[in-house]
Amino acid sequence: MRISDKEMLSMTDLPFDKVSPYRVKVVEYTIPTTKEKRMEILKKYGYSGRLLPAEYVHINMVTDSGTAAMSDRQWSAMMLGDESYFEARSYENFEEAVNLFTDMPYILPCHQGRSGEYLVYQALVQQGDKVPSNTHFTTTGAWCYERGAEPVNLLCKDYLDSEDKGWFKGNMDIEAFEAYFIENAEKIPLVELVLPNNLNGGQPVSMANLKAVREIINKYDKRGTKLYLDVARISENAWMIKQHESGYEDKSCLEIVRECMSYADGCHMSSKKAALVNMGGFVALRDKRTWQKMQPKLIRTDGYITYGGLTGRDLEAVAVGLIEGVNDYYLADRQRQVDYFAEACKKRGVHIMEPASCFAVYIDAGKCLPHLSPMEGPATCLSAQAYLEGGFASTAMDSLQRAREDSSDPLNEGKKMTAPYELIRCAIPRRVYQEPHYDWAAECLARAMSHGTKLPAFRKIKEDRPPLEISEIGLRTFFDNFEPVSDLPLGDPVKMVSTRI
Ligand code: F0G
Repeated sequence: MRISDKEMLSMTDLPFDKVSPYRVKVVEYTIPTTKEKRMEILKKYGYSGRLLPAEYVHINMVTDSGTAAMSDRQWSAMMLGDESYFEARSYENFEEAVNLFTDMPYILPCHQGRSGEYLVYQALVQQGDKVPSNTHFTTTGAWCYERGAEPVNLLCKDYLDSEDKGWFKGNMDIEAFEAYFIENAEKIPLVELVLPNNLNGGQPVSMANLKAVREIINKYDKRGTKLYLDVARISENAWMIKQHESGYEDKSCLEIVRECMSYADGCHMSSKKAALVNMGGFVALRDKRTWQKMQPKLIRTDGYITYGGLTGRDLEAVAVGLIEGVNDYYLADRQRQVDYFAEACKKRGVHIMEPASCFAVYIDAGKCLPHLSPMEGPATCLSAQAYLEGGFASTAMDSLQRAREDSSDPLNEGKKMTAPYELIRCAIPRRVYQEPHYDWAAECLARAMSHGTKLPAFRKIKEDRPPLEISEIGLRTFFDNFEPVSDLPLGDPVKMVSTRI
């Protein structure tokens, strides 16, 4: 019998903030490489973490999405997956876990976050509407444009102050939101809060901010505006609230998640993050009629309403992982790893965005490579060189790759703005790496940085592709390719360990 949820959540005095609360049963290998081989790979496949063949990436922090190591509890639950088309038993297990997590009565499973978002936008958003957010994730921004509406990002100003060490720099700018809401209330069907704010340094959102957003909607509402939460990593956001917002220190993260949900009308989750699965998602909401409106839309694209594009075993894995991933001592272990990696970077002089978030470390490549201007891609360059140094891959989010479009005029290249920081996101897969991996990843970044002005500028490779639609503009980061204006420095060879067959 596998350990039950109740047993998993039992009180403990074991120091799970110092030692991981699990042990390893299966390990995963990558193909060993040399610096020469890695240079060949970069030249052949392109210089971005997203393009590198994964078997040649020894430490992969390109994303924390779908990359978790599942537990014995999840794998054993998967064996019990009920693959019946309609009303499979696995759906009941899934529904029970999602109800417990969200405290919302109406649920639809989806194959991942973006398919759930599609239902929300189709059901609620129309041409000419506006959807304010602390910062839309790329896909909710895309759905918004697809409906002929405008995604509006109102991120708090603290984020723009690099000296600010506040804990909740992912917040909505409450003053700006209030003013915007008063002026546009008739055009706002939906407000989206992303907890934590992935596209801005992974910074968390406070409970106070969430409550303030709710109060403003209640006060000035003119058309039944809904508040939805993008909860891909809400368990980790809850951990930050527990650590850093007064009044929450004695609450469990599950209680904090449920309190967050209590201020919302609905939520959508990419379960590939905090629910510790490789595939899955859901929408949960309070209003039955909206739920019914979403049902045929789900059937049209993803299958029946009790599986939403997932297999029975996927549903089982989410049901277990969702609760495992909100367990306080699991989250203490996760935060320890993020903090360890952040310290490993700082110790080696690699500049990071502070405070480090709850799921990733964002490297301030602009500070690391001050000789490169934003449009010369300092993050693109440092990230590529770090792979060359030691097989460590990450995601560059600099102005070269992510200059921000004007949301009211997204096709106008002339209105694009540079990113506020030239960041590399090192997103930490869950339960995958150990301290020596983090030390080596930090070492790769430090070695890369030590080449200083020898590191070249990058430029976009011009490619003849059909033009993107407005709703696809933000997705160009998946198509654009970049190259250095001159070769990356090969530097000293790293000591070789030989194997002979
Ligand atoms: N919302 C947030 C905050 C996300 O970070 C993502 C995905 C999604 C929604 C969409 O979920 O991929 O399951 O469809 N983020 C991944 C990342 C891709 O690397 O940050 P999805």
